[in-house]
Amino acid sequence: MKFLPIITAFAATTVMATSTKGRSGCVATSYDQIAGTKGCSAITIQGPFTVPANNIIDLSGLKAGTTIKITGTITFAKGNLDENNYLVTIGGTNIKVDGTRGTFNGNGPLYWDGKGGNGGVNKPKFVRLSKMSGSITGLTIIGSPVHTFAVNGCQGLALTNITIDNRGPKYALAHNTDGFDVSSCSDVTITGAKVYNNDDCLAVNSGTNIAFNGNYCEGGHGISIGSIKAGAVVDGVVIKGNTVVNSANAVRIKAYANATGGRVNNVTYTDTTLSGITDYGIVIQQDYTNAGATGKPGGAAPITNINLYNIHGTMAKKSRQSVYILCAKCSNFNFQKIAIAGGAAPQCSGISPKPMGC
Ligand SMILES: *[C@@H]1O[C@H](CO)[C@@H](O)[C@H](O)[C@H]1NC(C)=O
Ligand SMILES: *[C@@H]1O[C@H](CO)[C@@H](O)[C@H](O)[C@H]1NC(C)=O
Ligand SMILES: *[C@@H]1O[C@H](CO)[C@@H](O)[C@H](O)[C@H]1NC(C)=O
Repeated sequence: MKFLPIITAFAATTVMATSTKGRSGCVATSYDQIAGTKGCSAITIQGPFTVPANNIIDLSGLKAGTTIKITGTITFAKGNLDENNYLVTIGGTNIKVDGTRGTFNGNGPLYWDGKGGNGGVNKPKFVRLSKMSGSITGLTIIGSPVHTFAVNGCQGLALTNITIDNRGPKYALAHNTDGFDVSSCSDVTITGAKVYNNDDCLAVNSGTNIAFNGNYCEGGHGISIGSIKAGAVVDGVVIKGNTVVNSANAVRIKAYANATGGRVNNVTYTDTTLSGITDYGIVIQQDYTNAGATGKPGGAAPITNINLYNIHGTMAKKSRQSVYILCAKCSNFNFQKIAIAGGAAPQCSGISPKPMGC
């Protein structure tokens, strides 16, 4: 009676060794089946199921060319991992993720305390794309405890039609629920995203040839370059055809005054529609700190060759500037067709000549 299971196990092992691993081995319908899908070239992660508290999904170091299909809802039980952890990591060369019918639910409202990454309860970040190339299409993410996507060290990645929805109970307290944080990447394109959140919709912290096209951003802090810290270089960003609604800012470039070795060069925002903007329509500042702007700009990280074309819409408050620039070392700003109504007069300093709209 003891023989049968052993033979079965042996047969399964043999199939794996020929790398035509049984189909069932590549489909995870529960959390504990996910580890067994590594090595498959076509993985299916099929919800609904729950990832137990303090556990993560690790899909890093996948075989080149792996396809992943995510369906149903995968819910992450609330735990106490801190922001050095990611609930999901995906990495590998030419990985194609189809999330068209899939949702990750991070249970954000159970964490949100208004403090985001600056204290309060521990909050894990949500999805890390680490040294990944390929694509993700159509995934829905709801309830990020804190930052949603960290796109790190990726070269050649297309993120298309992703929805990030951090609304829901306690939405007002969902601080630091950034949409996409991009660092040390090249050739990354984000298209067709819908982001409802409470911090930057996009933040390009470093990288080259980054595109952000045809996205919708609501509730957050705007489409941002930076914050630029020491050594961070952003060179070559195209941001086109986006809509920013009920957000603090729409167009935003922010650098620390002391960001030695950093720089921002060649950034273009084209065809941005904005409404309900509570801080600034367009803000470019070299006095940024996480604790608030200091009013004392520094040029350690120069900001050069910034092109804005057709940025239009309305501010929420008459008291806030439609365009605000506070620079110490900025040059070659080329703005055209800036039409932002309903705010206070523009205030621009540290840039010469002053661009249109100032
Ligand atoms: C993204 O959504 C648009 C609009 O629904 C659709 O036309 C396009 O094919 C989708 N892209 C992908 C890669 O699925
Ligand atoms: C600016 O960046 C874009 C996007 O990466 C690139 O296509 C373009 O060639 C760059 N322009 C210059 C002058 O380097
Ligand atoms: C840069 O400025 C920030 C904000 O004022 C400060 O927290 C940080 O320590 C400074 N970094 C250096 C290297 O001086």
